[in-house]
Amino acid sequence: MSREILIFDTTLRDGEQSPGCSMDFNEKMEMADMLDSMGVDIIEAGFPAASEGDFKSVESVASRAKNAIVAGLCRAVEGDIRAVADAVKPAKRGRIHTFISTSPLHRKYKLQKTEDEVLDLIKYSVGLSRQLCDDVEWSAEDATRTEDDYLCKSVETAIASGATTVNIPDTVGYSTPEDYYRMIDMLKNRVPNIDKAVISTHCHNDLGLAVANSIAGVRAGAGQIECTVNGIGERAGNASVEEIVMAFKTRSDVYPFTTNIISEKLFPASQLLSSITGVNVQPNKAIVGANAFAHESGIHQDGILKNVMTYEIMTPESVGQSESNLVLGKHSGRNAFRARLKSLGIELADNALNDAFHKFKALADEKKTITDEDLKKLAS
Ligand code: KIV
Ligand code: ZN
Repeated sequence: MSREILIFDTTLRDGEQSPGCSMDFNEKMEMADMLDSMGVDIIEAGFPAASEGDFKSVESVASRAKNAIVAGLCRAVEGDIRAVADAVKPAKRGRIHTFISTSPLHRKYKLQKTEDEVLDLIKYSVGLSRQLCDDVEWSAEDATRTEDDYLCKSVETAIASGATTVNIPDTVGYSTPEDYYRMIDMLKNRVPNIDKAVISTHCHNDLGLAVANSIAGVRAGAGQIECTVNGIGERAGNASVEEIVMAFKTRSDVYPFTTNIISEKLFPASQLLSSITGVNVQPNKAIVGANAFAHESGIHQDGILKNVMTYEIMTPESVGQSESNLVLGKHSGRNAFRARLKSLGIELADNALNDAFHKFKALADEKKTITDEDLKKLAS
């Protein structure tokens, strides 16, 4: 039996907090439409109290979203909470997402509050949010560096005050899959009212473990994953939606989880975000990078030409990339060379092909990439 996992996309909030990734109003609307149409369950559209522009963006996403729940983020402060409630009012389904730090480090240095004072603020902020909206998410900022007992008490308080989702952020990307599994499992076992709320993951990628941690959280019982397109977000970013969705799809034998995401829209969403922000996706990025379905070595190209499954575990079409790409370079072999010439309408007899292939190898030693124009010249 597979379990459906909610995808909470925070590209427009946590993602926008990445240096160089800010978006103007129209760009946010274009991105929100893409997220809504690709099957994201919850769109976190911004932080309404941060600026008038952010308020307007959240309000407009709330008015135009056809399917997704629209959320706005707020601190445990009355003005922030009311701003989210107003901004998400036009949504078919709106969500207030309120947070406060729970770790000893944050309590002491950032909030300068005692354990009891933070618990009171959880009661107050979640209680007020719940008076204004039926759908309330509460986040324990820096949860993964919080003492177990205090985290249990905080989560229990949030649920008792009306939270319908409890989010357990690995705010600083410090956790490992084993830690994170243990923490979610511990909450499931020790918080008496935990069955009254959905547990959510929110993992940062400082150690490159955001996706692995999120999946570990789901395996331990979480029902929602917070993530972003291309994994953008504070510092090293968040868990990337494309990697999570395709891990579930490709390895359903070990991950019995499904999402509502239309996987064919993953690449178009990645391209749209990258064109809007001007931040390129690294070529070797899983799923959506330019090299994710590219093959350069002769041995791999030969395998791919015989049967794509020799070197591909999913099809490019399944993520919205057009086709596998046999890149011609100095490691390429004769079969791929011949196949590319054929695709350009050029068929050479064996001797001429040998000749052209030697010239191609010599050129490939000098140039990083061989274009179709180079090939036509070689063949002629
Ligand atoms: O990383 C984090 O802790 C957050 C919360 C505000 C959800 O982004
Ligand atoms: Zn975050």
